[in-house]
Amino acid sequence: MKSGDQTSRRKRNIKCWAFVVAGVIAHTIIVLLFVLLVMRTGNPKVRLGGVTVENLRASSSSSSPSFSTKLNAQVSVKNRNFGHFKFKNSTLTISYNGTPVGKATIVEGRARARSTKKFNVTILVSSNNKISRNSDQLSSDIDSGIINLSSHAKLEGKIHLFKIFKKKKSGEMNCTMDVNTSLKQIQNLTCK
Ligand SMILES: *[C@@H]1O[C@H](CO)[C@@H](O)[C@H](O)[C@H]1NC(C)=O
Ligand SMILES: *[C@@H]1O[C@H](CO)[C@@H](O)[C@H](O)[C@H]1NC(C)=O
Ligand SMILES: *[C@@H]1O[C@H](CO)[C@@H](O)[C@H](O)[C@H]1NC(C)=O
Ligand SMILES: *[C@@H]1O[C@H](CO)[C@@H](O)[C@H](O)[C@H]1NC(C)=O
Ligand SMILES: *[C@@H]1O[C@H](CO)[C@@H](O)[C@H](O)[C@H]1NC(C)=O
Ligand SMILES: *[C@@H]1O[C@H](CO)[C@@H](O)[C@H](O)[C@H]1NC(C)=O
Repeated sequence: MKSGDQTSRRKRNIKCWAFVVAGVIAHTIIVLLFVLLVMRTGNPKVRLGGVTVENLRASSSSSSPSFSTKLNAQVSVKNRNFGHFKFKNSTLTISYNGTPVGKATIVEGRARARSTKKFNVTILVSSNNKISRNSDQLSSDIDSGIINLSSHAKLEGKIHLFKIFKKKKSGEMNCTMDVNTSLKQIQNLTCK
């Protein structure tokens, strides 16, 4: 009787330990998955969606070629992290041939976890006093009907996870586009 009791108790003990070990393994796997999937953070992707052209003026006169316009650009911030991305004020710069010809402020905000935030930015662009008066390049670009512009912005901020963890991340936008001066439209908008 006694020995039988002992073996069954031992069996119960072994079963008990097996449960504990299995539990620890399961916990470890869950924690690992959590760290690998949820805690991993990456830089948000910032790009221009559509861009519309308003009030375009372009003069190719060889003595003082110039252009000016108002661009309405849709900016998208794609945040694939499991926490929201809170970004600071930053500047969106439009350049022609490497020279800034327009700036606008991207006002601080946040992109929710695993979602894409979209907002519109208006940029006043003018080559006056920025591109040299006798720029042959500008003159011939305007003659050709295509003005090649690039846009740049860097959104610096933090990914907030569970209100405890914060990780510095930034999203950089680098896009190029062609302004078709006869259609007054953007063509070949591409973002890196
Ligand atoms: C961000 O820009 C907005 C609008 O220009 C301004 O009101 C705000 O004070 C700025 N925030 C910081 C932290 O500079
Ligand atoms: C941005 O501008 C586009 C086109 O002008 C408009 O359809 C869209 O509703 C605007 N989006 C926001 C968030 O204002
Ligand atoms: C502007 O767009 C129109 C329509 O797509 C096209 O026919 C024209 O060739 C474009 N202009 C240039 C300079 O590419
Ligand atoms: C516009 O500029 C970009 C970069 O400078 C270049 O890759 C692209 O080919 C240019 N497009 C045209 C139509 O000149
Ligand atoms: C964007 O352009 C800037 C300046 O041309 C360059 O320094 C930067 O490395 C580029 N970033 C990306 C992500 O292409
Ligand atoms: C820009 O788009 C036009 C047609 O829309 C195409 O013919 C031209 O090759 C494109 N240029 C570049 C640099 O992609």
